[in-house]
Amino acid sequence: MKLCIIGTGYVGLVSGTCFAEVGHEVVCVDNNPEKVRQLQGGSIPIYEPGLEEMIPRHVREGRLRFTGSIAEGVAGAEVVFIAVPTPPQEDGSVDLSFIEGVAREIAACMTSYKIIVDKSTVPVKTGEKVAETIKRYNRAKVDFDVVSNPEFLREGFAVEDLMKPDRIVIGTLSPRPVAAMKELYAPFNAPIIITDIHSAELIKHAANSFLALKISYINAVSVICEATGANVVEVANGMGLDRRIGRQFLNAGLGFGGSCFPKDLSAFIKISEQLGVDFRLLREVQAVNAAQMDRFVKKIVDTLWVLKDKRLAVLGLAFKQNTDDVRMSPAIELCQRLLKEGASLRVHDPKAMSKAQAVLPPSERVTYVEDMNDVAADCDALVIATEWPQFAQLDLERVRGQLTHPILFDGRNLLDKAEMERLGFVYKSVGR
Ligand code: UDX
Repeated sequence: MKLCIIGTGYVGLVSGTCFAEVGHEVVCVDNNPEKVRQLQGGSIPIYEPGLEEMIPRHVREGRLRFTGSIAEGVAGAEVVFIAVPTPPQEDGSVDLSFIEGVAREIAACMTSYKIIVDKSTVPVKTGEKVAETIKRYNRAKVDFDVVSNPEFLREGFAVEDLMKPDRIVIGTLSPRPVAAMKELYAPFNAPIIITDIHSAELIKHAANSFLALKISYINAVSVICEATGANVVEVANGMGLDRRIGRQFLNAGLGFGGSCFPKDLSAFIKISEQLGVDFRLLREVQAVNAAQMDRFVKKIVDTLWVLKDKRLAVLGLAFKQNTDDVRMSPAIELCQRLLKEGASLRVHDPKAMSKAQAVLPPSERVTYVEDMNDVAADCDALVIATEWPQFAQLDLERVRGQLTHPILFDGRNLLDKAEMERLGFVYKSVGR
């Protein structure tokens, strides 16, 4: 099928690439000319395993192209995806101006029937507004349908999540686009849920908020574990074997971050508020998440006492493993809190060092270190802030020799507690 994807951020770029991978013909549109030039030249603006190989291959074979013009993208497309940012506003509500702008532009250039699919995460009832807008601005008065098709990809696993999705959610205002949407997704062999458009929009916010709740739940349990001498990893393993609960998203740590959970949670709370409902449970999820960071900083301060003039090594800057994304990263927040306490930092991340420099500029007190095994040189303690699996392979004897005192704070429970104690470390993790 012929597709147009508007917006080449994580969702748009990876979706476009995966649609090309299963044989669709895709035009990706972006309003940033520099980004379009970059992509046309085969260079990829984000780090996402798989894309480097896939994008140039599909461009070469003619299934994927990039342009700055919505009119050009829409002209030949049967299905037009909106995958533009929906950033949070100061009060937690969602800024829908990009969606509205794109809807108007699509309307202005539509000359034949189109299915317009919203892939961005939007508040419930946005689809209806998009349909109204398109109707108003479409002078040619051609038929169209609006569909909600939320995306559930995780950064760092985006290609895998898109190629092998748990489910495809399709919400429509009328039955007409259903057959085409099913055809579009048939190659992915996943369960397809066809529903009304409001339910589809709600599924996305409800699912992300539930996952955030799961993380806050185990983080709250970790506090009880610390107070009793229990081990939160054992508790999570025991809980997770119950198939109704599942082991995923039960890793206690520094709390969740990234461009989705914090934003979607605030948006869902705000949407509920606008509907006259106080979703207190979700406000508590936010509060537990914030407290988790406070407790970890306190743990460091309680152990090292005054941080002024102390040197700390920090492993991890990305908001999680397998990505170079530092938006709302708990690791960056931790660094900022430690700097505020007066510490100097030596930091390392396998992929996020360049993006991190914009929010954590190198300075007399912040040194970026290329090799993770050198990060601890002459430091008073080492802190693990992101769950990169390679941090579990640290050369611990070397690290112990580099530190002035063998103290390690593991904010992601990556290392083996017994082994750390055997090696003579003062080892503090979360809920163990
Ligand atoms: C999330 C959703 O998983 C995805 O379905 C949605 O489309 C976008 O939001 P993403 O933000 O890429 O994806 O990351 P995810 O892997 O879900 O992790 C989010 C945050 O939670 C990270 O900061 C991670 O470190 C933290 N996390 C995750 C935990 O602290 N514990 C866990 O057990 C799992």
